[in-house]
Amino acid sequence: MDIPLFKIYWDEEDVRAVKEVICSGMHWSSGDTIEEFEEKIAGYLDVEYCLVFNSGGTALHSLMKAYGFGPGDEVIVPSFTFIATPYAPMYVDATPIFADIEKETFGLDPGDVIKKITSKTKAIMPIHYGGMPCRIDELKKIADEHDLILIEDAAESFGAKLDGRSVGTFGHSAIFSFCHNKVFTTGEGGCVVTDDKALYDELRLIRSYGRVVNGDYFTNPENLDYKGVGHNYRMSTIIAALGLSQVNKVDKTTELRRKSAEYFNRNLKNIDGIVVPTPPDDRYHAVYQMYTIRVLDGEDTRDDLMKFLKDQGITTRIYFDPVHEYTVFKEYLEYDIELDMTKELSKQVVSLPLYPHLSKEELDHIVNKIKEFFKRERI
Ligand SMILES: Cc1ncc(COP(=O)(O)O)c(C=O)c1O
Repeated sequence: MDIPLFKIYWDEEDVRAVKEVICSGMHWSSGDTIEEFEEKIAGYLDVEYCLVFNSGGTALHSLMKAYGFGPGDEVIVPSFTFIATPYAPMYVDATPIFADIEKETFGLDPGDVIKKITSKTKAIMPIHYGGMPCRIDELKKIADEHDLILIEDAAESFGAKLDGRSVGTFGHSAIFSFCHNKVFTTGEGGCVVTDDKALYDELRLIRSYGRVVNGDYFTNPENLDYKGVGHNYRMSTIIAALGLSQVNKVDKTTELRRKSAEYFNRNLKNIDGIVVPTPPDDRYHAVYQMYTIRVLDGEDTRDDLMKFLKDQGITTRIYFDPVHEYTVFKEYLEYDIELDMTKELSKQVVSLPLYPHLSKEELDHIVNKIKEFFKRERI
């Protein structure tokens, strides 16, 4: 059996949707499908505005520009994340300040965030790790009390909820990623969501070369003005059509993800030395973009487990190594970093294969091989 970490869930409707745009012979770049996709996302999450981008990373960069962050400004981020999170402030010459995480959600630890706030802090940017809401209600309170902008990097967690409210709607703005390992996918892609009209208007300019939008640029014969230096961070209609078709299936695919996660939880939780990912309480609704266990013995046993599973045809991966330890940050960071929990957890975590159509045979194979590994370990 060969089980990859993730597989894309797709159907004939995805093919039909893309084909329809292609066969129209028009509007491959801009067109109504984009607004339809944006309206669908905004409606799904219950937020005023959505703007799609050609990646989660370009959505993040655009947000940093739209807020006007720059040299001397600090943005508090986790180190237990994908590198795009701390890169975002760096794109505009602002400084990422790393704060520690907490054990249950793998999200920013509100207590450590408070310690990292200075007179230079402009924003707090937590992530919702692998489909698990972080302690976003507490972080919102801190942001409000200190008059800071709260930006949710919800790249991995479309549809996750806290108290019935979707992640991405707690902060002043949020991004999602539609890269091919995410909850639903367009291959590459992303979006910003916000209730802030002024921010939305600014983001529209940044997304499309600073061009003052007036209908469809490609069919409007008028010459338009350009305000500010923007980029081409647009999503094409071909991609938006795929996104629309994909997001229409997201309730179904999320339910399948959750069922597989529950199966793993039931069957793995009694293994001595493993902690399975369980939300702190039933206010948390996780969508399991990833399924990450902790191996309490730490790095050596975790790495042995990964190797053992690889030999059995099961791909696993470490999400995440602390990003502040990468070479790119070593020269850049001019402050000492002590992130004890990040350090400890990053040596324990291993993500197992999880995707909507993971079969019962595949689930059992993974469970049985993990049991076998720990049985040998404990002899
Ligand atoms: C937490 C986090 N932020 C940002 C991104 C960047 O998204 P993209 O890959 O679409 O640029 C990712 C993608 O993996 C992510 O996991």
